[in-house]
Amino acid sequence: MLGKSITAMESFSAKEIRLVLDTAYKMKQIIRRGGDKKLSNLRGKSIVNLFYEPSTRTRTSFELAGKYLGADVVSINSGTSSIVKGESLRDTLRTIEAMGVDAIVMRHKSEGAADFAARVVKPVIINAGDGAHAHPSQALLDLFTIEQHKGRLAGLKVAIVGDILHSRVARSDVYAMTKVGIEVHFAGPKTLLPRFFDFDGVTVHESLEDAITSADVINVLRIQLERQQAGLFPSTREYARVFGINDARLSLAKDDVLILHPGPQNKGLEISSEVTYCEQSAIQEQVQNGVAVRMALLDLTLNGGEA
Ligand code: NCD
Repeated sequence: MLGKSITAMESFSAKEIRLVLDTAYKMKQIIRRGGDKKLSNLRGKSIVNLFYEPSTRTRTSFELAGKYLGADVVSINSGTSSIVKGESLRDTLRTIEAMGVDAIVMRHKSEGAADFAARVVKPVIINAGDGAHAHPSQALLDLFTIEQHKGRLAGLKVAIVGDILHSRVARSDVYAMTKVGIEVHFAGPKTLLPRFFDFDGVTVHESLEDAITSADVINVLRIQLERQQAGLFPSTREYARVFGINDARLSLAKDDVLILHPGPQNKGLEISSEVTYCEQSAIQEQVQNGVAVRMALLDLTLNGGEA
């Protein structure tokens, strides 16, 4: 994977996914062993985090991942950079490239921004979310978390619930999950489901109950309030009533169903507090796994690693 830009799950083979997950297992042990976490794998490498959209988990975990591996990491916040003076994306990328960086981790509101970056500059580009298009590191950490709990991936049923239409997480999850043999079930209000969807291994349900009763995992998506167009979204009360994942809904699912949410959560809208903190919830663990998976991605793309 040396030199590979990570822009979407479509360009990953099942073998590469396996390599990332196996590497992430080792990284997680390092994070958890306590004491000195600093490795020298990426000593002498530099990484810039370029975020045009807000982020807590993704940006911090990429930053810590690079630092734990010994790289120099700088984070640029669009609000305090020359971006506010109107500099184009191409010029900003070229400027960062000229400083000799090895990788740019970027988040942008436009679909295709990461692919564009991979075409115009030489450093490795890692897509940390581009509009509603893709969020590959989130999909990989979802797989990693599922495998840690279920001991396998192939043959599992995952229900992805909520605002599928605007979700880059759902899109990347679908490609990642179907490549490893997971059966995906989408559920959400009709207006928030993809309109023309024909994808092997994916079933679309308008009824939440149909999707969750036999699921091994429920991945609850955030309602992307910032991406809604007029008329697509019912009231928040109506949404919570029909599609919110709460204790009553959880009781319809398997006893050992695993609950995921990429964060940030709209509490009381798509998910209730009781579900977030219930025994089956791995939401907090997803955050730690995010660091391990991002360490794996940085190590494999900047240091090499064969699939
Ligand atoms: C996701 C994102 O930004 O796409 N969050 C994240 O990376 N943890 C999901 C979301 O914002 O809803």
